[in-house]
Amino acid sequence: MEAACAPWPSGALHIERFSAKPQEAPAEGALASYEVAHWTSSGTSLRVAANYMLVHEHYLDLTHIPEVHPGETPPGLEEVPALDQVHVSETSAMYSRAMPPADLADWEAEATGLPRGRQYQRRHHGMFISPAVLAEGWEIDGGDGRLYEQVRIQAVTPETQTSTHLYWRFARNSALDRALVGQHLHEVFENVMRTDVAVVETIEATAGYEGAASGIRVTADAGVLRVRRIVESMLAAEGARAARFASARKTA
Ligand SMILES: [Fe+2]
Repeated sequence: MEAACAPWPSGALHIERFSAKPQEAPAEGALASYEVAHWTSSGTSLRVAANYMLVHEHYLDLTHIPEVHPGETPPGLEEVPALDQVHVSETSAMYSRAMPPADLADWEAEATGLPRGRQYQRRHHGMFISPAVLAEGWEIDGGDGRLYEQVRIQAVTPETQTSTHLYWRFARNSALDRALVGQHLHEVFENVMRTDVAVVETIEATAGYEGAASGIRVTADAGVLRVRRIVESMLAAEGARAARFASARKTA
């Protein structure tokens, strides 16, 4: 699996490439220098009135797209299949799923220039790199020996228990020289992102993260559950370190 992490607006995040085959667990140091010659990207940032884990969990659970983003979901796709591969380490998770063959959504036809009127294979994959960054990829097999890939990168900074700063970026490896295509895709996916934000803000305002997290999870949410465990374990370790530090200061 490969997911590209594109340049950040501020340049604060280095250009990186996450390279690991789906059958391999992510190794420490999987991040490597990335040659961005075949990618282009754009993005924005905003404040979200929701807990940062609601943001992550919404992005991790793609099963919402037929209902929440019907215009961007491939026509005829009524249900997102469960993840077929999940690999976890102590602090990260990689997951992937094959999508059933489907026609092109309008944005896919625009992004790839592929002919309509036939069905295409796709894979959705993601990497929860840490509680700070989630990168998701959408690969369309053009049937011409080429994979047309789009990547969304979400850098998530908790602000308070109920607010989060979100840096969002969309990257693609096709139609690189077509600015109008880039502008159109940016508009489509910024709108998708703002729809997602409205959903998580509504959940925060009604159930809150604790309420949402206590719901029954199904197989399709395997990535969510793995990531939740990772974050809980990291928070517990951080709490233990903080307690040891406070105890050491008292006795010093
Ligand atoms: Fe969404």
